[in-house]
Amino acid sequence: MGRVTAKTPAELARMRQAGRIVAEALQLVREQAAPAVTTESLDRMVEELILRRGGTPAFKGYRGYPTSICTSINEQVVHGIPGPVELKEGDLLSVDTGVFYEGYAGDAAITVEIGKCSEEARRLKQVAQQALEAALEVVRPGVRVAEISRAIQQTAESAGFSVVREYTGHGIGSALHEEPSVPNYVSPSQLMGGPVLPEGATIAIEPMVNAGTHRVEVLGDGWTVVTKDGKACAHVEHTIAVDKDGAMILTAL
Ligand code: MF3
Ligand code: CO
Repeated sequence: MGRVTAKTPAELARMRQAGRIVAEALQLVREQAAPAVTTESLDRMVEELILRRGGTPAFKGYRGYPTSICTSINEQVVHGIPGPVELKEGDLLSVDTGVFYEGYAGDAAITVEIGKCSEEARRLKQVAQQALEAALEVVRPGVRVAEISRAIQQTAESAGFSVVREYTGHGIGSALHEEPSVPNYVSPSQLMGGPVLPEGATIAIEPMVNAGTHRVEVLGDGWTVVTKDGKACAHVEHTIAVDKDGAMILTAL
């Protein structure tokens, strides 16, 4: 495993621009997601916003992925494909999107409640957000990725939930996915130490928190990841830079 590299100030500035467009897109989703709205209409709105702001959708065409956002509802974990399906009251919707701007990427996700959700769904969303915040707290120059993973896992599991193992956060920069991988649990290889993040490293941290089992499977469309037990999942994500003062969120407004 190679050392994790740092971005230059010029690279970070582009990633901040990409991240700002991602944040605006997700803010638009927050405002528009409601009962009877289709997920494909959200995709269309986001794509228009990204293009209008001078960005390029990072997901569309990535390994053949068809759309600019991922919409994952209830037991869907990640990579749900937008379509004619209407959102309904009580759905827990996660929306993930990525943007390239002048050759650099930003990537973030939010989970939103559609109308009034169950108590469990609300708590799941809250705990996923807390897991992300706990991860941001431990970020500093020289932090081990394992410390980030541990913060996420401890937050989720102490709330009685589980974390997905098969999908992880990741380094990000001129590619959507770079080294290192940023697991949401302390992986066997991390027990041996694992990578360290220098100042200027950029990663996407993305807890996927399940109400029931951590086990997941991929549907026949080849993309949509769902929980094995059909219980709900919440997924949130930010792209951050390791700054001397801690985590600098690049996908914030
Ligand atoms: N945010 C996710 C990730 O970083 C989604 C990208 S996968 C795509 O892996 F295929 F939808 F682009
Ligand atoms: Co990501």
